[in-house]
Amino acid sequence: MRERLADYAALPDETVGQIDIKGLFPKASELWLEIGFGAGEHVAAQAAANPAIGLLACEHYLNGVASCLSHLEKGGLNNVKLHNGDARDLMDRLPDGSISRVFLLYPDPWPKARHHKRRFISPENLDAFSRVMSGGAILRVASDIPEYIEWTLDHLAQRPEFALLGDPATEFREPWSDWPGTRYEAKALREGRTPAYLTFQRGPR
Ligand SMILES: C[S@@+](CC[C@H](N)C(=O)[O-])C[C@H]1O[C@@H](n2cnc3c(N)ncnc32)[C@H](O)[C@@H]1O
Repeated sequence: MRERLADYAALPDETVGQIDIKGLFPKASELWLEIGFGAGEHVAAQAAANPAIGLLACEHYLNGVASCLSHLEKGGLNNVKLHNGDARDLMDRLPDGSISRVFLLYPDPWPKARHHKRRFISPENLDAFSRVMSGGAILRVASDIPEYIEWTLDHLAQRPEFALLGDPATEFREPWSDWPGTRYEAKALREGRTPAYLTFQRGPR
């Protein structure tokens, strides 16, 4: 597993400081970031559908990384680099304005009030998005938890550099046109929950 992961490592062991994006993705036209990819089906689908982009994908969960690796190997996909760890550590090492699309798909909802500070949508992490995203970059957030959807809308509404796209009248129930779904989403749908698909755009830098 370690050897298999080495070919896909976003942060090879010996590297320190800012990530060498050109070294990781010499030919990529754009750099995208997925946070908390679970088993990696969405990572593989986006990488296959967009071969010109470079996709950095982060997940704490080692079994999820192993599953994602299998999808990448099976699909012969070489435009993805994986970070088995905290997405915030990887973001800290990205240059300003380097990311043109961020996916945060079904982030852990942390329903108890005393755990809300663990939610990925937070002022600190929005600062990090703001720094690493290019002008015009897109942030996609999916969630099946009404309170987390409200939380996300409220936090982003406090950020003048992010605009909410789409029509609020639809309550953001329409999936994106290139949406392959995720494993967590399939479970949420089976259990009768209704997802929302939120899209934000970063303004000019
Ligand atoms: C509810 S799951 C959703 C997984 C996947 N996106 C899906 O829709 O099937 C949330 C995932 O985010 C991961 N995660 C949470 N915080 C993270 C962080 N700071 N960095 C990397 N991964 C994180 C968790 O390990 C978990 O696998």
